[in-house]
Amino acid sequence: MGTLLIRNGYVIDPAQKLSGHYDVLIEGTRILRVEPRVTERVDRVIEAKNLLVMPGIIDMHVHLRDPGQTEKEDIYTGCNAAVTGGVTSLLCMPNTRPAIDNRETIAYIQRLAQKAKAKIYICGAATKGLSGEELGDYAMYRELGVCAVSDDGRPVESAEQMEQVLLKAQQAGLRVVSHCEDLAIVNGGIIHKGSVSEDMQVRGIDRLSEDRITQREIELAERTGAPVHICHVSTKGSTELIRAAKKRGVPVTAETCPHYFAYTHEKLRSRDADYRMNPPLREPEDVAEIIRGIQDGTFDCIVTDHAPHTKREKMDFRKAPNGTVGLETSLAAGIRFLVEPGHIKLERLVELMTFGPARVLGIEGGSLEPGMAADLALVDPKAFWTVLPERLQSKSKNSVFKFERLQGRVKYTLVNGEIVYVMRY
Ligand code: DOR
Ligand code: ZN
Repeated sequence: MGTLLIRNGYVIDPAQKLSGHYDVLIEGTRILRVEPRVTERVDRVIEAKNLLVMPGIIDMHVHLRDPGQTEKEDIYTGCNAAVTGGVTSLLCMPNTRPAIDNRETIAYIQRLAQKAKAKIYICGAATKGLSGEELGDYAMYRELGVCAVSDDGRPVESAEQMEQVLLKAQQAGLRVVSHCEDLAIVNGGIIHKGSVSEDMQVRGIDRLSEDRITQREIELAERTGAPVHICHVSTKGSTELIRAAKKRGVPVTAETCPHYFAYTHEKLRSRDADYRMNPPLREPEDVAEIIRGIQDGTFDCIVTDHAPHTKREKMDFRKAPNGTVGLETSLAAGIRFLVEPGHIKLERLVELMTFGPARVLGIEGGSLEPGMAADLALVDPKAFWTVLPERLQSKSKNSVFKFERLQGRVKYTLVNGEIVYVMRY
């Protein structure tokens, strides 16, 4: 493999605190140098004038649905969607069928991953079959290169069991990613409990269902000293709890998703199940607090919780499964709803989508330092575009951002120095 020069782009690499016009020189699969002007002869050049050149996005919360529900998504379509959105690495969640709790399923994903466009990291089931009972085989996970555990899609209901998950995962060197939800409080709720659920006469999901388990995980992490990562935070209360815990030195990290800083439960008045996800869209005060958490470091990363579901499943508002796709819109939603209104700088957004998650997961990537894998996204940060569901690469079209005008369009995505995506229209 030869050399490739990305010339004259605007480079943002928060890991190195770099922000300015630089050339990026790639040799084979790795970054060789980032400097103001590379003059040597190279094999190929990408002209990046007026483009943002950033590390590839790492999305640590993705449902690929493969094996078992490939009518919704499969490993290849999921990774095609990823690179279309500038995502070069992702963590796939274990609520597949069967769940990711056994050698065969892990080997299957790893085999298909070799031909997929993005890099796949695997999150194993915290408990076998996501049952909340017997723990998964963490030594086996570790041996096979799994890097985290979760029962995402559901909580680990027993606090005692969660404590074991934290301790055993720490011993095995696995991260714990916790979906915080008290099912007794949810009690069949389908959208946020508030004025909209009342007006619509549907059962609501109280914020308390999320906040109680966030509080529990923080207490367990504090007591055991074993780290915990809180998934898809949607409430003011959970944001405040995580902020306070971090101040006390509790080993807790956290993520939120674009829909939680972009929208409120008002979207649900449409009775369109594409706006239903779990946790649900909340209220303006939650949105404001989540934005504060993004500004002040309470959140370590922004993830999508990419959750594809078919059109047919999403037809019935009450019975539809929860989730929105997100891989192709996360960066543009971040620019549109965080950077453009002036909540944060583009540098902070890039950090939350690259170096932040790399640090949480303890994986390579998220930086353009010499020697790192050449995983990059080249983005036109000024380009406006409208999200047309039928144009999404994902097999499922259930986007919470459908028909929204977003800003920032990925033009090229590179993985290991190879151009895996070029924007065509
Ligand atoms: O909205 C959601 N969808 N939340 C989850 O926790 C699971 C996910 C899914 O798997 O569809
Ligand atoms: Zn979840």
